Amino acid sequence: METIESAGYNVYFETGLAPLSELIQSGKYSQVFVFVDSNTLESCLPVFQSMLDGFSAFDLIETDPGEENKNIDFCIGIWKTLLDFEADRKCLMINLGGGVVTDMGGFVASTYKRGIDFVNIPTTLLSQVDASVGGKTGIDIDNVKNMVGTFALPQAVFIESAFLGSLPKRELLSGFAEMVKHGLIADAEYYKALKESDYEAVNIKDIHHSIAIKNKVVTTDPQEKGLRKILNFGHTIGHAVETYSLKHDKNPLTHGEAIAIGMVCEGYLSKLSNNLTAAELEDISSYITAIYPAYRIKPESHSALLDLMKSDKKNENGQIMFSLLREIGQCDFNCQVSEEQVKESLEYYNGLPS
Ligand SMILES: NC(=O)c1ccc[n+]([C@@H]2O[C@H](COP(=O)([O-])OP(=O)(O)OC[C@H]3O[C@@H](n4cnc5c(N)ncnc54)[C@H](O)[C@@H]3O)[C@@H](O)[C@H]2O)c1
Ligand SMILES: [Zn+2]
Repeated sequence: METIESAGYNVYFETGLAPLSELIQSGKYSQVFVFVDSNTLESCLPVFQSMLDGFSAFDLIETDPGEENKNIDFCIGIWKTLLDFEADRKCLMINLGGGVVTDMGGFVASTYKRGIDFVNIPTTLLSQVDASVGGKTGIDIDNVKNMVGTFALPQAVFIESAFLGSLPKRELLSGFAEMVKHGLIADAEYYKALKESDYEAVNIKDIHHSIAIKNKVVTTDPQEKGLRKILNFGHTIGHAVETYSLKHDKNPLTHGEAIAIGMVCEGYLSKLSNNLTAAELEDISSYITAIYPAYRIKPESHSALLDLMKSDKKNENGQIMFSLLREIGQCDFNCQVSEEQVKESLEYYNGLPS
């Protein structure tokens, strides 16, 4: 399958990690570290080693899994571990895991001794179709998403469907939300095809297509000055709902589940203040509520959600900025809506039949 060229690095598909073997054997690196969480240690490291022919000349750095651990305390632990291993600036860090591992591993690598090389091997559908390209790294502060981070490019990214074999269904569904988003913002035909597909049988061709869509956007606008903001469709409300859920729910929403809710609400806003038709909104809402579990947004959470939206990085001059659909397959950015309209969109989601 065709390699995707991003800004300064390649995204390889189903190569069995052959280009990584070459990179490691190039003699460029003093030491190799593999960064995992406890789940990818168990499920993905053996697959990684089998692909690299039992390769074991690396030191392992392990973190606890989950968004609640994507924070500065864990980064300090990883920086200290690198120091304990006497890692110099010529070492390589291989991030083997989901978006938490690639975001935090990329952040740690891009700052350790002012930056060491890193490679991403995303092992969740979400990290493959989304976090793998674009060069954003980051961590959360007080559970507020991605408040500190860098733009830093990996040496390479490897997409291997073998890693998805152990992924729980709920995590597959989480990643699928980003694929649906890619269709909604940039490719109506792709959205239609996804609707007719089964997320549990997601195929590498669609993963490739999603990455190609994201890559085209991020290489056009690497620093998110304009166009790249369309990738935030569903994320202004989605991130707020995700953060709120992380703080308040016993079984918090996954990123994709929250984004699915965000896409319905922002679809509603797209109809209110952009060009989306009622029929298109109905199409999006009924599809998303059919495949994602129902969630109740409590009216008493509205003001906390709005406060969270106000802390969003995309805002300018204190005004909450949205990326809204013009039609299915096309998205505008820097759209403004009122707080009342945002609340209305949350009520719209709550009122949908589940
Ligand atoms: N940098 C970016 O551009 C970007 C884009 C999108 C999302 N993100 C970030 O990505 C994160 C979400 O990513 P995620 O959903 O991959 O989260 P995650 O890394 O927490 O992975 C989800 C769960 O699956 C487990 N897991 C990972 N791979 C597995 C496998 N192959 N088999 C079994 N279990 C496995 C993990 O241990 C974790 O428990 C968020 O922090 C989000 O902010 C970043
Ligand atoms: Zn996302």
